[in-house]
Amino acid sequence: MSLVLRENYSDEVVILTFNRPEKMNALNTDLLDEFMAHMADIEQDDAVRVVIFTGAGEKSFIAGADIAEYADGNRDAFIAFQFNGRRVNDYIEQFPKMTIAAVNGYALGGGFEIALCCDVIVASTNARFGLPEGLLGLSPGGGGTQRLARAVGRYVAADVLLSGNRLSGQRAYELGFVSAVTELDDLMTTALKKADYMLKIAPLAAQEMKKLLRISMDAALPTGLSLEQEVLFRLYSSHDGLEGIKAFVEKRDPKFKGR
Ligand code: COA
Repeated sequence: MSLVLRENYSDEVVILTFNRPEKMNALNTDLLDEFMAHMADIEQDDAVRVVIFTGAGEKSFIAGADIAEYADGNRDAFIAFQFNGRRVNDYIEQFPKMTIAAVNGYALGGGFEIALCCDVIVASTNARFGLPEGLLGLSPGGGGTQRLARAVGRYVAADVLLSGNRLSGQRAYELGFVSAVTELDDLMTTALKKADYMLKIAPLAAQEMKKLLRISMDAALPTGLSLEQEVLFRLYSSHDGLEGIKAFVEKRDPKFKGR
């Protein structure tokens, strides 16, 4: 049975479903390998512009790393798993296509970390975002402390990490890292509506803005502002920049070519 299901919703939009519902879609090595194979394939497909991630079943997006894989006390295997997880998360964050996490239940540990690497997060009301590693005597290893603090600030992050607060879909929406919260039945429709809008953004512009957003978390403001203008000047002279402006003036839809 496939641990990650791929659905080509359209030429431009792909849905990847983490598919271990009997284990709350916990991440094991085989699942991550399948996931990366799909992602590598999608990256090569010029038609695809948006990838939506979700979890199989009605309870869980991803309940974190597969704790059973940790249980044999093999330190080398544990470290290799963590390095691999970091590589996967960095790859998602830097993915050249736009990404949406459609969080349909528990997003714990590595599941929350994957959501935090996506461009847009939508959630169902039963979503629960948490980082429970401390309960296992561990701490996050796939960016949880760093990306959550950057996303919501140190004190909300501390509440999640140290006081076990699982943020509901509604709370995550209020905090601003989830951009829409819906009933579970409407979650994929909501994600697809977001995708529809994202398809209107010119491909190069989307890629460049993704990079700028990443940089905004780390670079000094003057550096970020200079990079922002460099990007804008490049886009202005690109085919798509010229076409977008021309189409607006001529009151027609633009035909972007990704160059
Ligand atoms: N790793 C391995 N197995 C997991 C898992 C994980 N992270 N999360 C859930 N499972 C398994 C359970 O062991 C159980 O398997 P079993 O039926 O063979 O016993 C199955 O998924 C269902 O989980 P269960 O705990 O019975 O469901 P629940 O509704 O009572 O609770 C959770 C759901 C997600 C709250 C609970 O499973 C949990 O706390 N999971 C661990 C989350 C975690 O610590 N993640 C960070 C890991 S570093």
